[in-house]
This record gives sequence, structure tokens and C-alpha cells, in this order.
Amino acid sequence: MSPPVPRAVARLAPTLLLAATLLSAQAASGQELRAHGGPVRALGAAADGGLLLSGSFDTSLIAWRPAEAMVLHRFQGHDGAVNAVAVDRGGTVALSGGEDGRLIAWDLANAKERFRRELAAKVLAVALDTSRGLAAAGTGDGAVHLLTLADGAVRARLELDGERPTALLFLPDGELLVAGHLGGLRSVAGEPAQLRERRPASGFAITDLALADDRTLAASAIDGTIRLFALPELEPVGELTGHEAPISALAAEPGGRRLASGDLKGRIVLWSLADKRAERVLEPHAGPVWDLAFTGPRSSLWSAGNDAVVRRWAEGDPPPEPTARTVTVAEAEGGERGAKLFRACRACHTLEPDGGNRAGPTLFRLFGRPAGSVPGYPYSEALARSGIVWTEETVDKLFALGPETFTPGSKMPLQRMPDPGDRAALIAYLKRVTMPEGRTEERGR
Ligand code: HEC
Repeated sequence: MSPPVPRAVARLAPTLLLAATLLSAQAASGQELRAHGGPVRALGAAADGGLLLSGSFDTSLIAWRPAEAMVLHRFQGHDGAVNAVAVDRGGTVALSGGEDGRLIAWDLANAKERFRRELAAKVLAVALDTSRGLAAAGTGDGAVHLLTLADGAVRARLELDGERPTALLFLPDGELLVAGHLGGLRSVAGEPAQLRERRPASGFAITDLALADDRTLAASAIDGTIRLFALPELEPVGELTGHEAPISALAAEPGGRRLASGDLKGRIVLWSLADKRAERVLEPHAGPVWDLAFTGPRSSLWSAGNDAVVRRWAEGDPPPEPTARTVTVAEAEGGERGAKLFRACRACHTLEPDGGNRAGPTLFRLFGRPAGSVPGYPYSEALARSGIVWTEETVDKLFALGPETFTPGSKMPLQRMPDPGDRAALIAYLKRVTMPEGRTEERGR
């Protein structure tokens, strides 16, 4: 999918590029939350910043105490990637929606499931409104579901006439806004719930919604533009252009002074709303930024990346160091490059015979072993019957092509290692540490 480049973007891009160069020349800083084993797809935060939730491709949802980069709890309720997360302002209840079509409400105080609903298609967006006791989910079959937050009772299911919901937002008056993959905006309100068209489809998928202040709605789109609308009638009141790639995430600072937007090329732009221009450009992630959240009195901005990391930036911090080439970091570690790369696997795999199975099987004695052969591990049918034997070549292919291509139907979440040097380093490391006698056998690369 390559959206046309709008003229305004082309005009502004050089300014942004310059800003990015200047800022990234400064020192590294910022805080990192690392515990996910795959891309982080969704973030939610309590208003006081005391709690942050991240949902990942690794199927888990993690509650963090961000100030100490501490994992409070790892919620394992999904069988597929977590696509969407919402938390109430007080940090007491959360919603997560997954690729598995499951919508789960979590009581955060005791880390318990409040309810789960199996919906007919993958969940693409969620929202909650504690003041009215409502939960909402948008699914890949083009429907919006309204539920009671207390017990998950379904109150309404509304069809979007062929448009897929991509973002949901409850307005202060209780109306639910629904954005779609064709660029349309609808609202759900009333009893019984009624769907109403608010803005016709623009042709550009809306990817996220944020309430800039009580009067302004912001919608980001794949054409790299943020469109601003005045509430309650949603008249267009401006556009913010400057991203050179589809915008994948949007968040508004509490107080409505700034917006942050992140794109598929890993760029985050902080916008001043008063003068509608880009204030800063940050490039903290290698690859796409999937979600953004502001927290706390100091307005920290948290970003979730395809690189499995959640990063923080706050006013006064130097901009985070660009990590567009993770290889650089790994290379700096010299011989431990493979060990560093294995960090992305550790959440799901042990290396010892008695380390046991995590979400994935132990990789002890991996080389020479047929796929799907660790006794007692519940393999997918697809992997167990693949006929693959794990060798340097097949493990290399697994990460060059990605499990979804090399072992279609496997339960291993999508991950790829595009750099052949990385794959060689990982394989050399795996060979060394998964051998029974710990015999070193480096590859002749
Ligand atoms: C989020 C969890 C997760 C992460 C992260 C993960 N894996 Fe896996 N892995 C799995 C699961 C689940 C399976 C079993 C898949 C199946 O049964 O279809 C698996 C299977 C495998 C297999 C096949 C094992 C066998 O016995 O056939 C290999 C090899 C493997 N993973 C290597 C890796 C490496 C190397 C990494 C890091 C680069 C990694 N995995 C990251 C979950 C994960």
C-alpha cells in the first residue's frame, strides 16, 4: 500500500529533515521499557503517569510502573498479537483486544480478568468510558461492539457498511467516535445505539484519533496528514502536514497544548497546537512507531515501537538517540552480538534442557533436531508437520523470511531479522549455547 504523497507534505519535508538532523546530533537519553518479545502494538496510560500498559505481538499485555521501568504484571490472556489497549484515567481498569478476536477487561488492582468476549473477527480498536460504564471494540469484520464495562454484556453491535473500524474514541458527552479504513468518521450515540455518519470517507485510512482539547478532534491518516475538526459538529479546522510516511499513532498532551504523531518510518513529531507547526522531531525507534501516550505532570511521551521497546521522552531531556540501525548497538557489543540479539527471544525460549518451555519450546540441542520435536510442548499442527530439520540454513531462513512465511500457520509471532550479519551472529550464538558440551563452533563468515 503506497498512499499518494500530498503536495503540502512535499513542501514541508525539508524543514522537518533539518530539525531531525540537528536534534539527533545531541546526546542520547530517555528511558526504555524492555520486556516484550516482539513489536509493541498498543499503549495505554493512567492520567497521573503511575501506570503504563503495553500490548505486544508477543501476545502479552504488560503493566509497568514507568518511573522505575518496573514490570508490575504480565497479563497472558490472548492467543494472538494484542492490537489495542485502553486504560481508564485512574488506572483501575483496562481493555485489551487481540488478533485472536478476543476482548478482555482487566481489573488492574488485583490483576484479574473481569470478563472476556470472543468476537467474530480480530479486534482492531478499543475504548472505554468509566463515567458511563461502557466498553467499545471495533473488529475486522466491519463492526463496532458496545458492551457494559461491569460485566461485558453486549448492548449493541453496529455494522459500518463495508468500512473497517481503525480507531475509537469516547467524547466527553458520551458519544463514541468511530474512524475507518476508508477515512470515514461516524458516531454512535443514543438508546438504542444508533450509528450516524459524521464525515464522509476521504479515501485515506484514519489510523488514530485524539482529543486535543475539549473542542478539537485530531485524526491521523496514512497520507501523512493530521486533520483537525471542531467539536461538536466536526467542521474541518486545519491540517498538520510534514510526515513523509503513513502516520500510525497519535496522542494529545493533557491540557491540549501539543500533539504527538508517529509514523511507519519511525519518526515522531511533536506539534504545537497554538501555531499548528512542528516543534520537535524525534527518531527513537528502529522502524514503525505503533502507538504513543502522554503521561504525568511533566508530560512524558511514551512511544511503542516495532523494535519491541517502549521509550520515553520528556521536556528537558535531550532527544533520544536514533536507533534506526539496531546493528550499531549490537556491533558495539563485539562478540556478544548474538547474545544481545537473543534477548528478543528470551521472553519465550530457554536454552537449557531443564529450563523448560515458555511460550515457545526450549531451544536446547536445536541444531539437528526436527521441528516440533520437544516432548510435551504443545506445537501447532503447522510446525509439527512441516518436515523441517533445524540447521544453520533453516534457522537462517526462518528469520530471513519470518515464521509467517517460512512456517505458515506456526504460533511463533512475526519477527524478521533482515540483516544477514545479525542472523549469522544469532546462529553462531545459538550453536554455542545450545550444544550439550557447550562446544564453540563459529561460522566461517
Ligand atoms: C513471543 C514468543 C516468541 C518469541 C519472542 C520467539 N519465539 Fe520462537 N517460538 C515461539 C513459539 C510459540 C514457537 C512454537 C511455534 C509452533 O508450535 O508453531 C516457537 C518456535 C521456535 C522454533 C522452532 C522450535 C522447534 O522445536 O521446532 C525456533 C527455532 C524458534 N522459535 C527460535 C526463536 C528465536 C531464535 C527467537 C528470537 C529471535 C524466537 N524464537 C522468538 C514463540 C516465540
